[in-house]
Amino acid sequence: MILRIAWRPSKRLDLWAWPCWSRSSWVSPVFRQPRTAAAALRQVVIAACPNPICSNQCCRWPILPPPSAAADPEAFIRAHTAPGPVPLRPDIILWQATEITPIWHATADWLEHHAVPPPFWAFPWAGGQAISRLIADEPSLVAGKRVVDFAAGSGLIAIAAAKAGAAQVTALDIDPFAGAATLLNAALNKVRVRTLVADMIGQKLPGTDIILAGDVCYEQAFAEAALAWFRDLARAGITVLVGDPGRAYLPSQGLCRLASYDVPTSLELEDRDVRHTDVWRVPMD
Ligand SMILES: C[S@@+](CC[C@H](N)C(=O)[O-])C[C@H]1O[C@@H](n2cnc3c(N)ncnc32)[C@H](O)[C@@H]1O
Repeated sequence: MILRIAWRPSKRLDLWAWPCWSRSSWVSPVFRQPRTAAAALRQVVIAACPNPICSNQCCRWPILPPPSAAADPEAFIRAHTAPGPVPLRPDIILWQATEITPIWHATADWLEHHAVPPPFWAFPWAGGQAISRLIADEPSLVAGKRVVDFAAGSGLIAIAAAKAGAAQVTALDIDPFAGAATLLNAALNKVRVRTLVADMIGQKLPGTDIILAGDVCYEQAFAEAALAWFRDLARAGITVLVGDPGRAYLPSQGLCRLASYDVPTSLELEDRDVRHTDVWRVPMD
């Protein structure tokens, strides 16, 4: 069994099954059958791949990486993604994975070999897109406030908050690549954002007015710990908003819906090209 990193924001999503089409033993059920003519063609081409430097013998994209990506996340991000607009916030440009970028085609083995954690930061997730849209629609939510973008990934929400006039913005994530991506993306969008790479769940967050969390309910342990912490923070007077497209571990009650959006997403990433996504407020009591 090669698949070591398992996370499933949606039932059909298995990031690490994307590129390695010919490994039928662990290819996601989504991809066992090609869904389009292009996908079918790609599968045939890859199955016949004669590329001698492809250790998997299944990849027609000879990604030639720096030997240790972890040593220089910024260089890795620049080399493996490309700037592009966020569908629901086209005024915000992020370094992203797209079909033309090498990271789209990287295998789990390749990422592990180069010490690269799952590249959550390479996509604007539906929950983050919805919150960033809400911020554009209602900038007073963050204007003049001290904002934390929790589980920031690309830093999309942090950038939206900075653009809307937040007094101070901190992007918090456990992944150093997310920290590096956020700084690159902030520079791309000409805003100032602080990054903090740490696991702060359970800690107090002094000097914070509002916490914004996009797409954090995809994994049970993480979602439960984050939501319990959010409730504590809300009780302490911090406004907490969660953007979520109906992930498996979003609590079914106890949250107040603030806004809903139909968020364009990639069919390669989700099981549909639009996800209905809500922004919830965690109540104070
Ligand atoms: C699906 S991504 C969402 C990224 C971004 N909020 C968005 O909506 O585009 C989930 C993020 O949660 C981060 N994460 C996971 N556990 C975390 C923790 N304990 N503290 C902070 N971030 C965490 C991951 O590194 C990843 O960047």
